[in-house]
Formats: sequence, structure tokens, C-alpha cells
Amino acid sequence: MKFFIDTANIDQIKEARDLGILDGVTTNPSLMAKEGITGEKNIFKHYKNICKEVEGLDVSAEVISTEFSEMVKEGKVLADLAENIVVKVPMTKDGIKAISYFSERDILTNCTLVFSAGQAILAAKAGATYLSPFVGRIDDISWDGMKLIEEIVSIYSIQGYATEILAASIRNPLHIIQAAKAGADVVTCPLSSILALFNHPLTDIGLAKFLEDYHKAGK
Ligand code: G3P
Repeated sequence: MKFFIDTANIDQIKEARDLGILDGVTTNPSLMAKEGITGEKNIFKHYKNICKEVEGLDVSAEVISTEFSEMVKEGKVLADLAENIVVKVPMTKDGIKAISYFSERDILTNCTLVFSAGQAILAAKAGATYLSPFVGRIDDISWDGMKLIEEIVSIYSIQGYATEILAASIRNPLHIIQAAKAGADVVTCPLSSILALFNHPLTDIGLAKFLEDYHKAGK
């Protein structure tokens, strides 16, 4: 399972990259706004900076347009910003049309805001590179977000769809483990969830004891 970081924060992207376990970055308009990045010029500049920090790794940049021809125009501009840009497109009729258009022209896409198996089938048929089902937001309404990942993994395997399942809206380390068990191709998560995977009290206790014994023996 590939690890993407879900943020537009350059320091966090660098921290995850430097761990040597990062495979890509996803952003969305809310994450860009959280970093205080506003206005087309600044947004494009910020995408370029992110792409430079993680050369060779996929970086999802989301279109703001909702109408097909506008999405196409905007997606082309985004794709031209850097070689590693993936155009993120919402799951709507116009979005699916745009994904088909980009797919025919070898422009990588990430179909976002996916909440059902039916939507997952449409995105795969359109040729999306990645599919982003939002696990946490389904949990938020007391449904089981991970069940959707399991369902899509099963459908894609039966049908032989090439679209990669990118578990998104990940909120904690357990989500990451469950996504791996469910067979997601990719998980995109905040840095806090990635770092939480490191934690185990027995690791801390064990390391302290090893170091204590080493220093005792040296005396
Ligand atoms: O990138 C989309 C997704 O990961 C959003 O997560 O936590 O806002 O539901 P969240």
C-alpha cells in the first residue's frame, strides 16, 4: 500500500518525505486555504513548490470549476504546472466527463468525494487513475467508511479495473491499518496519523533498557 500525505503544508510534506516512506501528496481547496494560500497565482506557485519537494511522486491538485469545459481548461493548466501533477476532479456528471477526457489524453486524475460503490464503478469506467473514497466522513455519519473500501476492492478485483483505490479522509492510525487490511492501493493521511504508527510503549521501554544495560556494562 502506497503512503500519500494529505496536506498542503510544505514542512509536513518534507518531514514525511524525509522518513523515506512517502509515495505522494494529496491536497484539496480546504487544505490550501488552511495554509493561507489564496488567489490563482499563489495557488499555482504553491503547487509548483510542493511538486519540487517531492519530484517523481504524484501530487493531486484539485480543480475548482464544476462545469465540464471549465474543468478541462483548469485541469490542463494544473497538469502543465509540473510533471507529477494529478488532476483531482469531483465525482459529478461533469467530473466524470472530464476524467474521461483527461484519461484519453494520458493526464493522470484523482476522482474525489466518492461515497458509494456505484460512484466507484463510474470513475473506473471513465479511466480515473485514482479513486478517493472518504472513509472518515462516512464514519462521521455513523456508517462504516472502511466497509466501502472493502466493497470497492472486491468490485475492482472482480472486474479487473485498473483505477487505484486511494483511501482518503483518514483520521487516525487505525484507519491506516484497516485500509491496508482491506486491500486499498493507497492511503492518504495527515502527518499526525502517520507519526502515530510509530508509537508503542514497549518499544520505548525496551530501548531505554537496552541503553541502560549498555551504559552499565561500560562502567
Ligand atoms: O483530501 C480529501 C480528504 O482526505 C479530506 O479529509 O478529514 O477533511 O474528511 P477530511
